[in-house]
This record gives sequence, C-alpha cells and structure tokens, in this order.
Amino acid sequence: MITFNSRNVFITGAANGIGREVARLMASAGAHVALFDLNAHALALLADELQGMGFACSTHVLNVADSHACASVFGTAAEQLGGIDCLVHSAGIYPETPVESMTDEQWRALMAVNLDGAFFVCRAALPHLNENSAIVTLASVAGHKGSHSHAHYAASKGALSSFSKSLALELAPKTRVNIVAPGIIATRMTNDLVQQKGNALLAATPMERFGTPREVAGAISFLCSDLASFITGQTLHVNGGLYIV
Ligand SMILES: NC(=O)c1ccc[n+]([C@@H]2O[C@H](COP(=O)([O-])OP(=O)(O)OC[C@H]3O[C@@H](n4cnc5c(N)ncnc54)[C@H](O)[C@@H]3O)[C@@H](O)[C@H]2O)c1
Repeated sequence: MITFNSRNVFITGAANGIGREVARLMASAGAHVALFDLNAHALALLADELQGMGFACSTHVLNVADSHACASVFGTAAEQLGGIDCLVHSAGIYPETPVESMTDEQWRALMAVNLDGAFFVCRAALPHLNENSAIVTLASVAGHKGSHSHAHYAASKGALSSFSKSLALELAPKTRVNIVAPGIIATRMTNDLVQQKGNALLAATPMERFGTPREVAGAISFLCSDLASFITGQTLHVNGGLYIV
C-alpha cells in the first residue's frame, strides 16, 4: 500500500490525461496535491471533484514555458504548503508536422513547452525541495525510437531524459529523479494518432491494447514513493511491450 500522508505533491499538466490521474491517485493516497496547468477551467473541475471527495488540493494557473511565472508561482505555492515532497512534471504538447514542412516557429514553440518548460519547472522547484523528495518527469517512447512527423517532440523527450538523468546526479542524495516513458496511452493527446494509425500501433503492441492514464499514474506513484527509495536516474517504460529496452 503506497501512502503519501501529509506529503506535498506538485503536478504540472494536472488538468488532463496522465497528470489528472496522478492527482486523483496521489490525493486518494493522502497527499496534498498542488495542481498546475494552463487550463484554468479544467483545473477548477478537477479541484471540485477532489475536494468533493474530501481530498486536499490547490490550483495554480501556469504556463510552464514562462520562466518567471514558474519561479513565482512555484515559490508562492511551496511557501504556503511547506515545501515540495514530490514533483511530477507532466505538462507537454504533441503537434504533428513532418520535418520538411516544419517552420522555425513550430520547432521553437514545441521546445519552449516540452524542454524549456521542464528546465524552468525543475529549477523553480529546487530551492523548495524537502529532504527525501522525488521528481518524476514524463518523457516518451518517442525519445528512444523517434517518431514519424513528430521529430521535434521526439527530440524534446530525448533531451528531457538526459536532462533528468543529469538532475539525478546533482540532487542525490536529498532528491531522487526518475523518468517515466509512456508508449501509447489513451488521452486526448493521442486521439489523432490513434485515429490515423491505431490498428498498426495495436499490432506492434504485445499487450494488444493502449495504456490507460491510471496505469502510468501507478508507475509514477511508485517512483515517488518510499518503495523506490534506492532508485534514481532511471527510466521506467510503460508501453505494453511496444518498445522493449
Ligand atoms: N498520452 C500518451 O500516449 C503519451 C505518450 C508518451 C508521453 N506522454 C507525455 O505525458 C505527458 C502527459 O500527456 P497526456 O497524454 O496526459 O496529455 P494531455 O494533453 O491529456 O495533458 C497535457 C496537459 O498539459 C497541459 N499543458 C500543455 N501545455 C502547457 C503549458 N505550456 N503549461 C502548462 N500546462 C500545459 C495541458 O493543458 C494538459 O492539461 C506529456 O508530457 C506527454 O508528452 C504522453
């Protein structure tokens, strides 16, 4: 049984998909979840749901691509709550564009959210991390295999993985840093992909189905918990066998 009693868990990209399931799972295990996302409306819906079940949460509208906002919003939330015990960085975007027609602006906009955002969020968290804390970043199978028509996304996730491993070196022993690399998980992010290539992707997945956000949230919870107390700098692939390392 994993518990997060009285632990402060900061979650970016919390309003949808994997981040939202992490919030539900960790709040139900006793955490105070601080929810960060661009989408104020979806954040408010999630807060209503969690508070309705008696769980502790707070909401914070944040664009992770904004360096100053990350520092100030994280700083305020951490001071109010008493530091950060776990940080789950799930915010990300997945636009489709082949390299041949990719503009400078499209490349930069993707990197601004997926890579700069990870740096801004993790750096903003550092001064507020408590002893025995944990960070989990969300990379992707795309960062290992590449991804057709998503080269900027795959590049951002490969870089996020090596950034996270470097952070694990810098933050030990106070804070563990690990990476979860999902395969195809049924969220709004993969709606178009599943429409276009669903059958081929299923055929390439030994588990013969797509993953659920809950299954990724379980892996993230484990890495945040004391059950993973000697695990740092590692990548946990959650992909139903789509990519076996
Ligand atoms: N779903 C998958 O199959 C899959 C596979 C591999 C990796 N991932 C990664 O997992 C993470 C979560 O994906 P998901 O499927 O839950 O996606 P999602 O689209 O369901 O949720 C992403 C959340 O991030 C938020 N967000 C986007 N840009 C933001 C910004 N600039 N600032 C703050 N919040 C922002 C969105 O509002 C949304 O709530 C992403 O980093 C994604 O790259 C997902």
